[in-house]
Amino acid sequence: MLDLLIRHANLPDGQTDVAVAIQNGCISAVVPDQLLASAASIKTLDAEHQLLSPPFVDAHFHLDSALRYGQPRVNESGTLREGIALWGMLKPTLTQADIEQSATQYCHWALANGILAIRSHVDISDPSLVAVQALLNVRSAFKPWLDLQLVAFPQDGLLRRAGAQDNLIRALDMGVDVIGGIPHFERTFQDGTLSIEWLCRLAAERGLMVDMHCDETDDPMSRHIETLTANTVRFGLQGRVTGSHLTSMHSMDNDYAAKLIHLMAEADMRVVANPLINITLQGRHDTYPKRRGMTRVRELIEAGLTVAFGQDCAMDPWYSFGSGDMLEVAHMGLHVGQLTSQAQTTQCFDAVTTQAACVLGLEARGLAPGARADMVLLQANNPSDAIRLRATRLAVIRAGQCIASTPPKVAELSLGSQNISVNWRL
Ligand code: FE2
Repeated sequence: MLDLLIRHANLPDGQTDVAVAIQNGCISAVVPDQLLASAASIKTLDAEHQLLSPPFVDAHFHLDSALRYGQPRVNESGTLREGIALWGMLKPTLTQADIEQSATQYCHWALANGILAIRSHVDISDPSLVAVQALLNVRSAFKPWLDLQLVAFPQDGLLRRAGAQDNLIRALDMGVDVIGGIPHFERTFQDGTLSIEWLCRLAAERGLMVDMHCDETDDPMSRHIETLTANTVRFGLQGRVTGSHLTSMHSMDNDYAAKLIHLMAEADMRVVANPLINITLQGRHDTYPKRRGMTRVRELIEAGLTVAFGQDCAMDPWYSFGSGDMLEVAHMGLHVGQLTSQAQTTQCFDAVTTQAACVLGLEARGLAPGARADMVLLQANNPSDAIRLRATRLAVIRAGQCIASTPPKVAELSLGSQNISVNWRL
């Protein structure tokens, strides 16, 4: 007897009318529907030919600063630097309970939107490590439903801020999962290089993954990603290192960028672009034309790299918007990167599902027999439709259990004597 049988589903890879069987929290079969039409199951869910997807994964977020809109005030210049300055004013005023409360609220939004894994950076600049303890508590509280991975992030610089190296090691000892960095924010390019070497050596010693905020600037000479790539090879960290943002690559000389991308592919680097944030933050020092600022997503994917999109921020000192909707992120990434072909549209969907899972090291979480039964049923026919409509999450399923549901979005028109239902699908 199956625990749950989902019938008549469309899958992101283009398969239609598929049945997914679930037993003991795991997927036991993914087959054409007619093969399981008479299978016995405790529960059956008719997907009605809508899209059944692996869950959304946010590969880059900041839970400690989220949901603080207007505190201490809104970022007027819209720049990264003003955001960091505002966060510097705000963070000493936040208690562990404050951070736990807002992070909990955000996790509720995320689960309702079908996000079942988040990689969140946590600022370790303050020696009290209040934010670290808060997010470790949130990680354990949500463990049954959400894979929350934490990155020790030296927001004020690893070398620029006295004590950051010690704080970072203490955060890892407390149970933070991944090593972060911010080389472009150190005082000099040389300090950026030294920070990368120190952090990669530490990752090699401890057997951990690395995820650095890297080259989040429009300066084409900000080339820390080259150093990060070289140190990935030097310390044998291939497949375990992520470069987040990489916006300087947008402005680099094409010849240099081509060589760099080849080296990144050799080192099996992971890349996370954050389109909502970087279309807002970048180009602020340009007059016209204004650069878009997002890294070279198309070229990186074509070179075979794993590329994900992250949300980065929601209602914080850097970004006043955001609602935990990875389809909004994919929608913006598609537009900024002009990724409009059919294949590229699917790649944008993958960038917030399977590719993002890969960045977190959760490769075995797709819709395949043996995987944990984590999935989302969307009010859409296919990935393109899901992005176009920022589709309603009809059901969010974790380990075979439905943990969130939203009614379908349908409007009722009354036009004289005609009553028409509108659901925006062809
Ligand atoms: Fe970030």
